[in-house]
Amino acid sequence: MKNMCAVSVAGLMLVAMGLFWASDVGAAEKRMKLSSFDPQVKALLAKMTLEEKIGQMTQPDQESLADASDVENLSLGSLLSGGNSDPKAGNSLEAWTNLYDSYQKRAMKSRLGIPILYGVDGLHGHNNVLGAVIFPHNIGLGCTRNAALVEKISRITALEIRATGIQWTFAPCVAVPQDIRWGRTYEGFSDDPEIVKGLGAAAVRGLQGSDLSSPLAVLACAKHFVADGGTTYGTGTSPKKLLDQGDVKLDEATLRRIHLPGYPPALAEGVGTVMPSYTSWNGVKTSASKRLMTEILKNELGFEGFLISDYNAIDQIDKNYKKAIAISINAGMDMAMVTKQYRDFIKNLKELVDEGQVPMSRIDDAVTRILRVKFAMGLMDKNRSQLADRSLWSQFGSEAHRQVARQAVRESLVLLKNEKKVLPISKQAARIHVGGKNASNLGNQCGGWTIEWQGKSGEVTTGGTTILKAIEASVSPKTKVTYSLDGTGAEGASLGVLVVGEGPYAEMFGDAADLALDAKDMEAFRNMKKAGIPVVVVVISGRPMILGDVLEQADGVVAAWYPGTEGRGVSDVLFGDYKPTGKLSFNWPKTMEQVADKKGEYQFARGFGLRY
Ligand code: BGC
Ligand code: BGC
Repeated sequence: MKNMCAVSVAGLMLVAMGLFWASDVGAAEKRMKLSSFDPQVKALLAKMTLEEKIGQMTQPDQESLADASDVENLSLGSLLSGGNSDPKAGNSLEAWTNLYDSYQKRAMKSRLGIPILYGVDGLHGHNNVLGAVIFPHNIGLGCTRNAALVEKISRITALEIRATGIQWTFAPCVAVPQDIRWGRTYEGFSDDPEIVKGLGAAAVRGLQGSDLSSPLAVLACAKHFVADGGTTYGTGTSPKKLLDQGDVKLDEATLRRIHLPGYPPALAEGVGTVMPSYTSWNGVKTSASKRLMTEILKNELGFEGFLISDYNAIDQIDKNYKKAIAISINAGMDMAMVTKQYRDFIKNLKELVDEGQVPMSRIDDAVTRILRVKFAMGLMDKNRSQLADRSLWSQFGSEAHRQVARQAVRESLVLLKNEKKVLPISKQAARIHVGGKNASNLGNQCGGWTIEWQGKSGEVTTGGTTILKAIEASVSPKTKVTYSLDGTGAEGASLGVLVVGEGPYAEMFGDAADLALDAKDMEAFRNMKKAGIPVVVVVISGRPMILGDVLEQADGVVAAWYPGTEGRGVSDVLFGDYKPTGKLSFNWPKTMEQVADKKGEYQFARGFGLRY
């Protein structure tokens, strides 16, 4: 109890210090190398049976546990909650905290009492949990070019994750997407490795801080190693078969030049884990590639942490599961995200070791890497509680966190067109008519990986402000705000704001051959234009879209990406409370042909962004 209090007080002190711990750009030299924990690791390893070692290498999805007691009986090293793997008791802060605590208590009952690492996809906030602050997705953060802000956001995300006890997030994504038809484009900060480098490192710094043993640090995971954003169109293997999980047909020099640069800065910040990509490189699955995982990442770049496979990625290596396991572990995979078939994984890997097909030295190396991280994080400290620090609940989804998210939103907006100074809109306008499918839809505004894996259109049952509500809150008391989904009824208004674009989607289902605005958006645009009023179009999307006539005929156009729960950041820019500063993080094409061939001048080049 004493210890838990000490932890909370330390937490509060850190928070009091200028909101969060100070940015620690020069911390790399001060940081303990993970291998400095090897003496302790060695002593523990010597006490472990083969079964216990393999247990440490195994990460089921909690919702797929055949029996909860497998956590202690199989000495599991980790659990995850995938995008839809919520507590049975619901999605609340309390249910998540109880879920974490109950599994951690089980792990502590195992023979050696090694705590588990619990992992989630906290990609734009602690986004599985109701009431968490949802930040803009990375593509929007790329437009801020603001590393200090990305660090702050990641620090807040870490705090909200820690409030549930969880200590590991599968973030940041340092993909450098080269084809915006890919449904994970928005998870990348930019199509330019130079931008990804700085922001990825800032995210690691924010999540982990300079000292992994801090009870407020969250273990980061740079993903997806490497060239997840470099697959060739048409080679995709996830359901849409365009790009996702496809083949990267590039020579090594090009792969290094475009897709590798995000990793060394993340490693320099001490990132403890890396997730190999679902993709293949010239026909070889990354999870099977000794060249990528062992030679380049571990030997050449000196990565001392551990590799966590992607969700069931090992299964994709070979039809024969046992063979697939041997290939992946021998190529350098350290921990397997095996979700359902974890018992099979354990049985097969044990047989492979007994048969000499996976050397004991490889197992010891994998477990050493995992335990280094656990020692570094203070998980092995018997004087420290490994249960959630519930005193952090008071900060979860707090107003202070929402203010930072609002700042991120307004800095991420990119002004693409502003004819006749239509922006900023006067707060005194007599009447503003708002329309379009994304104006009053928090789910669309947050995008994928929000409460649900693929996100959910409509009222995501988490707190937040829609753009319509934000506009209503911004204008003078005398201004009338009217609304229609399809843009009709705008006649007589001083001005129209139409919010269009994409709905939510995530990996596997987000690839798209056509990025034109859909028929509903076009119809709503025509309806609003018919009223003969100036129209400002706000585009909510996970990537640049083909705007066609809308770009020509609208008076103002703003790219808002997936801003998340804090819609006030959008109205700040619309009404001049914040003058736009965002710059495109991706090239914005004119046509789908140009997306494919990348030839000719872009509609807007990366870096573009108007000011008013
Ligand atoms: C995704 C990863 C994610 C993992 C766990 C995979 O399908 O590719 O980005 O971290 O699932 O949810
Ligand atoms: C999980 C995701 C995971 C995906 C990949 C889903 O069921 O919720 O987290 O990324 O499966 O297969």
